[in-house]
Amino acid sequence: MKSYYITTPIYYVNARPHLGHAYTTIVADTLKRFHRMLGEDARMQTGTDEHGDKIVKAADKAGMTPQAFTDEISGQFRALWPQLNIDYDGFIRTTDEAHKRSVQALLQRLYDQGDIYFGEYGGHYCYGCERFYTEKELVDGMCPQHLTKPDYISEKNYFFKMSKYQEQLRRHILDNPDFIRPERYRSEALAMLEGGVLEDLCISRPKSRLTWGIELPFDKDYVSYVWFDALANYITALGWPDNEDDASGTYRRYWPGEHLVAKDILKPHGIFWPTMLMAAGIPLYKHLNVHGYWLVKDTKMSKSLGNVVDPLKAAGHFGLDAFRYFLIREMNFGSDASYSAESITTRVNADLANDLGNLFSRVLSMNAKYFESKIPPLGDQDDADLLLSENTDNAAENYIALFGEMRLSQALEALWAPIRAMNKYVDEQAPWTLAKAGDTARLGTVLRTLLENMYKVAYLLWPVMPDSSATMQAQLGRPQGEFSGDALHDVIKYRMHLRTGLAIAPASNLFPRLEMPREEAPAKPEKKAKPAQPAAAQPAAADEAPKSPVEFSDFQKLDLRVGVVLAAEKHPNADKLLRFDIDLGEGKPRQILSGIAAFFKPEDMVGKKVVVVANLPPRKIRGLESQGMILTAGSAGGLALLTADAPAGSPIA
Ligand code: MSP
Repeated sequence: MKSYYITTPIYYVNARPHLGHAYTTIVADTLKRFHRMLGEDARMQTGTDEHGDKIVKAADKAGMTPQAFTDEISGQFRALWPQLNIDYDGFIRTTDEAHKRSVQALLQRLYDQGDIYFGEYGGHYCYGCERFYTEKELVDGMCPQHLTKPDYISEKNYFFKMSKYQEQLRRHILDNPDFIRPERYRSEALAMLEGGVLEDLCISRPKSRLTWGIELPFDKDYVSYVWFDALANYITALGWPDNEDDASGTYRRYWPGEHLVAKDILKPHGIFWPTMLMAAGIPLYKHLNVHGYWLVKDTKMSKSLGNVVDPLKAAGHFGLDAFRYFLIREMNFGSDASYSAESITTRVNADLANDLGNLFSRVLSMNAKYFESKIPPLGDQDDADLLLSENTDNAAENYIALFGEMRLSQALEALWAPIRAMNKYVDEQAPWTLAKAGDTARLGTVLRTLLENMYKVAYLLWPVMPDSSATMQAQLGRPQGEFSGDALHDVIKYRMHLRTGLAIAPASNLFPRLEMPREEAPAKPEKKAKPAQPAAAQPAAADEAPKSPVEFSDFQKLDLRVGVVLAAEKHPNADKLLRFDIDLGEGKPRQILSGIAAFFKPEDMVGKKVVVVANLPPRKIRGLESQGMILTAGSAGGLALLTADAPAGSPIA
């Protein structure tokens, strides 16, 4: 069985997990799930990086010992991931005894073969980056990352002969165009290798300056440089070197793997690590996948600006799968992306509530209405039906290919083409017209065609939105099972997946519309002040611009129905709103919210036969979901209810 090993950086424990960490880790989880669905033996590895000055300083500040401090923050990372539905297989801490022993073995190997030497070094040291900078790398004498003045330090240390492997690495990158991807980061790495002779890497720190690290096996007065220790985690986590020659051990099973990092740590991963591997005689990783930075409203996230996004809060607020979807869809892998409550609301409402959620909601409720929620048989398919399925299959192939190239946003975009095509197909095939005409066979074929294509899309979305995908599959009567073989290609290959006659969900409400955050809602054009009006009902048209004409076919899209008010009460969290249970002839009443509390008493509403717009996407208002809209006549001055004396559910045309 082919194996797949994906790693995240191991995160520093000097800060709480934030949006940036969550993004990388969610992408790693998504990739692992994707490769599982391809039938591969997939493993995901993450963890925490716990040695070095930075951590000691943070522990000091918190008034804790480094060990107690790292235990606490590492615990926060470990506890967070499952709450974001991240299914990691290994969590390494660089303070684990096994890791320390393995790093010492790596150091000893390089030392014994003469790749580590002792020498004097003077350089500009940035404590924030935990590294020396050359004169050339400084920007106006400042650290390019932290914009602070580094300290000039001169001391005796151990060095790794990185320059010895420079040409070999350059050749490898030239011969393997996707070794570092996307391209812009490959070029950046090549530029580092082509800009002159690489300086050898200082891989030790004297204990007189720092004790919180892994002791060098060949000199107890020194500890390892934190990056040397940290990079090795990718193999020590697999049990290297104890199982280096064991063909059935974890190391041989998964290495070489794939790394996932952001652009901030390109150099250690693109230069230090591959040369370390070359020196140790270990195969190089397969790909270094480098993504950009999440900005918050176009500004760098930082504690001092107070704009650090807590991923758990965001997932709780917007919905976990909506959050995961947004992160993967919004960031063009490799480039920076901007996070804001407004951008997530816009994206989720457009793609999830309007496109995907609405498709499930309307098709399942039509299937409930016309076929008592049973899956209808497929009759003869016409060109439109075949084209729809072909579209889905092509998009699914693209989705898989783009995922493989780490073009994750484009992969999701590809999958949205058939989702939109399905909504259009519903409008064009107009199942309600077929129902009116009594053409049950054609009606069944249309709905069955839709249900089968919806199943494929739902199934393919599992790596990105595991919970919602499982719910959608279950709603279609085929709950997610264990994967076997190449499940991803299999789902495309077969045309039919659902069982004729099986009862499926009568309704679906997966992604309620999000309310645009108040302070960020696009400003409405200001209305000119008007002279005070008497408090009598004013015809609404009087102060509204004439509306442009609509096509009759657009008007027909409205599902207007008579609804009987079964219950009415004040909304618990909003004075202007009433909450209704309304019978629309569907067997189960709908909850509808309406901003008419100033005009009607709840007790007067019960029993009224009102006119309801029944096919608006469900929307959450002040914590409660509204599944339709009651029509009224008039304006803010006074309101009249639109009523119709007909049984519940009667269509209005
Ligand atoms: N400990 C080192 C990594 C050692 S790996 C052998 C480290 N830790 S870190 O906590 O600073 O994490 C950096 C990583 O966190 C980035 O490479 C990226 O994966 C993630 N992100 C942190 N901030 C980010 C953004 N603002 N945007 C996107 N990802 C970012 O470096």
